[in-house]
Formats: sequence, structure tokens, C-alpha cells
Amino acid sequence: MQDAFTPTSLLVTGGAGFIGSNFINHFMAGNPGCRVINLDLLTYAGNLKNLAAVEENPDYRFVKGDICDAGLVAGLLAEGEVDAVVHFAAESHVDRSITGPDIFVRTNVLGTQTLLEASRLHAERVAGFRFLQVSTDEVYGSLGAQGYFTEETPLAPNSPYSASKAGADLLVRAYSETFGLATLNTRCSNNYGPYHFPEKLIPLMIHNILKKKPLPVYGDGLNVRDWLHVKDHSVAIERVLKLGKPGEIFNVGGNNEWKNIDIVNLVCDLMDERLGRRPGESRGLIAFVKDRKGHDRRYAIDASKLKRELSWEPSYTFERGIAETIDWYLANQGWVEEVVSGAYREYYEKQYGQH
Ligand code: NAD
Ligand code: TYD
Repeated sequence: MQDAFTPTSLLVTGGAGFIGSNFINHFMAGNPGCRVINLDLLTYAGNLKNLAAVEENPDYRFVKGDICDAGLVAGLLAEGEVDAVVHFAAESHVDRSITGPDIFVRTNVLGTQTLLEASRLHAERVAGFRFLQVSTDEVYGSLGAQGYFTEETPLAPNSPYSASKAGADLLVRAYSETFGLATLNTRCSNNYGPYHFPEKLIPLMIHNILKKKPLPVYGDGLNVRDWLHVKDHSVAIERVLKLGKPGEIFNVGGNNEWKNIDIVNLVCDLMDERLGRRPGESRGLIAFVKDRKGHDRRYAIDASKLKRELSWEPSYTFERGIAETIDWYLANQGWVEEVVSGAYREYYEKQYGQH
């Protein structure tokens, strides 16, 4: 294990999104005195309400802006005397990448390269500077019924989203190999928890069950995902940032594989209990719809390197995490209603209207 790196000033990108905001809330609670600049463009997926807990903190600063704006990024790194970048900003939804891939290449590839280039120049003046790229297991492609992705698994992305993330990861590698930039790269499985945008499977199902709307399950519903609570992901990122050896990749996963249909059934049953509906009632809303194009069959991640080298373990059981997540959505209907109004309605009609 490396000697611990103690950041004094972080630039977090995409910190108003699902994982970025959970990370900032977690990190600032545990690292008083470390300054955090949150650079976020506030696309449809960004929401400052996620950050109510830190907005009054004098060490926190929000900047609305684009990671593709090289001048802005360079200015923030210099002014903020930043000694680490934690890079979350991305277009993150696979279905949107199928209907409109361009923005995924711009934000995920060009945006990452812009940050890397500014970081390379900045690092010449700041000893110990680190760049942490937050990525996904989807860069490894799809598994059959057996096996796990390790850090050595060749990249074989299948969707425009995962291809753009793989492109970004390879640029991170190139900046480490060519320029000696101290980079770290995490690749995590599917996250769930509070502030998850309701276009993604779990919050979409919670929302539709509540509204008694159809529950669209793609294909045969037997695709498998590994689910990790977003707070466990946040802890993993903090640990890699502080203790990871530069140049390394760390897989992050929950060892918690679920077939989509089983997770939808579980969410239905937990919701029925909470809403006082008759057992099985919400399962009646399930509608098998046309499959996603290029739908990856199974993701499963071997996170043993992170466990072995950095002593990380998930703290949430799925039973507790999913129950708390459902309760969070039920208690925060105002947040959901705001998010699903406006532009998201149009997306929803386009994505599910024809099914
Ligand atoms: P999200 O879509 O909820 O949030 C993305 C954030 O990035 C938003 O706040 C958005 O406003 C911001 N953003 C988008 N374009 C920007 C730009 N050009 N400049 C500045 N900000 C911009 O995404 P998420 O689910 O929180 O994912 C965060 C990161 O974690 C992504 O890099 C994603 O690839 C990765 N990841 C996600 C998961 C998951 O399950 N959600 C799993 C593994 C890895
Ligand atoms: P998603 O939450 O979009 O995450 P990812 O595609 O990054 O894994 O989808 C999780 C799984 O759920 C995936 O196999 C696709 C499936 N899915 C549905 O069956 N119906 C839906 O409406 C959505 C959004 C996803």
C-alpha cells in the first residue's frame, strides 16, 4: 500500500450528478478542511438539490461549467491550488447513447482529454498531484454465464456509452505512460441509492410502481447486473485516491449479481408492503418490451485487488441498501417530481412511448 496521500483541494467534475453528489457529501463529511470545487454543467442529470448538505460549507464551491472548456478548467486548477481531480462528469445512460451518441464522444472522450491536458500542465507545478478517472465495468463488454471481469480483462465495449468511457480510460492510460501524470482509474459495477436519476432501472421501477405505470423490462429480463450501493462506491473512490498507487486500475463491485426480472420483482414486493397494496399487485404492472440494441448479457466484477491491496469491503447488504433506497424515494417525492418534469418527459415518451 502507498503512503497515504492527503488532498487539500479537490476539483470534482460532475459533482451534481448521482454518484458525484453522493461522493462530495461523503467526502466533505469525513475530510474537514479539504476544499472542494464542484465543476458541473448541470445537464438534465445534474441537480444542485443533491448538495444541500454542503452548500453552506465554506470549503465548498460550485462552478457551473463545461469540462470541455480548457481555459475554465486550467483557471480552476490554478486558482484553487488543486492537488487532485476526481472525474465523474459524463453522459451516463446507455439508452441515450444509442439514440444520440455524439454528445457521449464529446463529453466523455473530449471532456476527459481536456481535463487530462490541463492536469498535465498543472501537475508540473504541483508536487503529488493526482487524477482519478471514475469509470465503469461496461468497458470490459459482456460476460456469458460464467466468469468475472478483472483489471486484466481486455476492453471490449459494446455500446456508444461504454465505448466512450473506454476511450476516456485509454487516454488516462496514455497520459500516465507518455507524460508520467499520476493517474488512477476505478471501474465500478451498477450503483444504486439516493439521487439516482429515474431513467435508470431501479429508480424508474420505484417511480412507475408508485404511479401504477407499466414496468418496462427489456428482452427476456434475464440480463444480469452486479449492484453496489453508491456510498460503498464513494468509500472505494476515496480509498483509491488516498492509497492507490499511481498508474493502477481498481475494479469496484458488490459481488451482488441479480437478473433484471428478479430485481424488478423484489422492488415490486417491497413497494407493495410499504404502499399497503395486496401481495403481487405491482408485479402485474411488469411489461416485457423490445430489447435494448446490443444489450450486454451479464456484468460481474472481481474486486479482489481493491479488497486485498486497499482493505476495502462494501458495508451495505443489498437487503438493507434496497430497503433504504426505496424509503428514500418515498420520502423524497418532491425531488423525483421535479426531476421527472420538463425535458425528461420528452425523453420518456420517445424511449417508451412506442413499446
Ligand atoms: P449522472 O448522469 O447522474 O451525472 C453526470 C453529471 O455530469 C451530471 O451532474 C451532469 O450535469 C455532469 N456533466 C455532464 N456533462 C458535463 C460537462 N460537459 N461538463 C461538466 N459536467 C457535465 O452520472 P452518474 O451515474 O453519477 O455517473 C458518474 C460517473 O460514474 C460517470 O463517469 C459514469 O460513467 C461512472 N459510473 C456510473 C455508474 C452507475 O451505475 N451510474 C457505474 C460505474 C461508473
Ligand atoms: P440501466 O439502469 O440503464 O444500467 P446499465 O445499462 O448501465 O446496466 O439498466 C440496468 C439493466 O436494466 C440493463 O440490463 C437494462 C435493463 N433495463 C430494463 O430492463 N428496463 C428499463 O427501463 C431500463 C432503464 C433498464
